This record gives sequence, C-alpha cells and structure tokens, in this order.
Amino acid sequence: MDAKQFFEKVWDDYIRVTPQANKINQLFKKKYGQVVNDHIAFRTFNLTPLSVGELEHFFFEMDYRFDKEYQFEEKKLYARSYVHPDESMPMIFFSQLLTEQLSKKSQIIISKLVEQINKTKIQDLGFFYSGLGWEMPTYDEYLVLLKESEYAAWLSVMGMRANHFTLRVSSITNALDLVEENNFLLNISGGKVKGSPQLLLEQGATLADSVLVTFKDGTKQSVPTCYYEFAKRYLDPSGNLYRGFVTSSADKIFESTNQGGI
Ligand code: NI
Repeated sequence: MDAKQFFEKVWDDYIRVTPQANKINQLFKKKYGQVVNDHIAFRTFNLTPLSVGELEHFFFEMDYRFDKEYQFEEKKLYARSYVHPDESMPMIFFSQLLTEQLSKKSQIIISKLVEQINKTKIQDLGFFYSGLGWEMPTYDEYLVLLKESEYAAWLSVMGMRANHFTLRVSSITNALDLVEENNFLLNISGGKVKGSPQLLLEQGATLADSVLVTFKDGTKQSVPTCYYEFAKRYLDPSGNLYRGFVTSSADKIFESTNQGGI
C-alpha cells in the first residue's frame, strides 16, 4: 500500500465516525476547488506493542522520515512528526501517552486493554485504521481515565484510527468563518485561532463529533469521536514553508475531543 492509498483508507474510517469532516471537506472543495491535507494525527499508548517507537517503521516504509519531536508535560504526552519527500503528501503527527505518569489505577486499566492486542494484527499499515483492538472498558473505568487524561479515555473507546485530519488553508480566519457559517462548532479553548504569524503557524479546529457507545457493563453513553483541524503555515526565515508544530497551540487543539467541548 502506498501513502496515497493508506490515507484514503484512514480517511474512510475517519469520516465514518466524523461525518462533519466529510461535509466540511466538501464545503472547502466547493469554495476553493482543490484542498491540501496538512497533517494527520494518530494517538497511542507508550506500551508494547503500541508505542510510537514500535509503530513508526510503518511510516518509514511509505518513505516518510522522522522530522521533529515534541513534549507535552501537562498532558503527559510525547509526539513525533514525520515528513514525506513529496511535499504534497501530508505530514504525520504521532503522539503517545506516557502512561507511567498516571495513577496506578489508570495504569492497570490501560494495561488490561493493551494486553488484549493481537500482535498478529500489527502486520501492516491497516493497523492504523483498525479501531478498537480490545473489549470496551466498563463505564466506571472510562470515567477513571477521563478524570486523569481525556486522551487516555478517548483512546480506550476509539482505538487506533486518525484522531484528526487537517486542511491547510490560506487564511485561518476565513476558514474558521466558513466552518461557523455552516453551523459547525469550533474548539474555543485558547481562542478560536491558536498560534500566530510570528510562530509561523496558526491553527483552529472543530469540536469532535460524538457517537453512542455501549460500555462493557452495558452502560450506553455518547462519547467524542474525532475533529477536523485547519492550519495556516508561514514561510520560515530561509523561505521554506514551516513544517513544525507549536506545542502551546497543539496543547489546546488536543482539547477538541473534550466532553462537551471547552
Ligand atoms: Ni493537528
């Protein structure tokens, strides 16, 4: 599978749980003709066999190379970005939760999920859109995770799939206006626009869609799925398009999957 086919498969899975993304994508295509995918983000736990270090070789097989790394202390995350020699290909942003920084109680819940992973399913890129590789947690377990880490709770019920796709736009305010005019809700944590031209990156995001799930104990609850992001990139001092990420902005973007959206 080449990178193009891979992203098509990831997109199909993503819009199944994030119908708003398909609608917004159509809006942009109608208004601007062509659209550019800026980056696609995946989330994982830093536990074998799911850690970033153990899974990133699948990206290298599509000719991606490691570009930069990022720390999110408050959210207890570590992330790496990957770039492709063909600059029309989206970047990949892959983050992992540093589970050892959570309470013992949360660590046990997460270990119980990860232990169920069938390692034979991690043979190719298909794993990145395989969804839940374990039984749903109980609702109580979900709430324990949610209290400590929204990221952990999200991953426990959504599994391995894109957390978001990102449209590269020429004006962040015009892009966000178009989204709002069409009645989609934006993540306003840290303001609608995160970042600045000085930081070479401005970003915004919708609030995640939601889906009704049945937890292991039979409890039915609506949970956030995924969101759509928008990025305006500026040229760096050497005249190249800035391909980095701004941690203070990404920190707020992560909150697009918060319950009830803040
Ligand atoms: Ni992003």
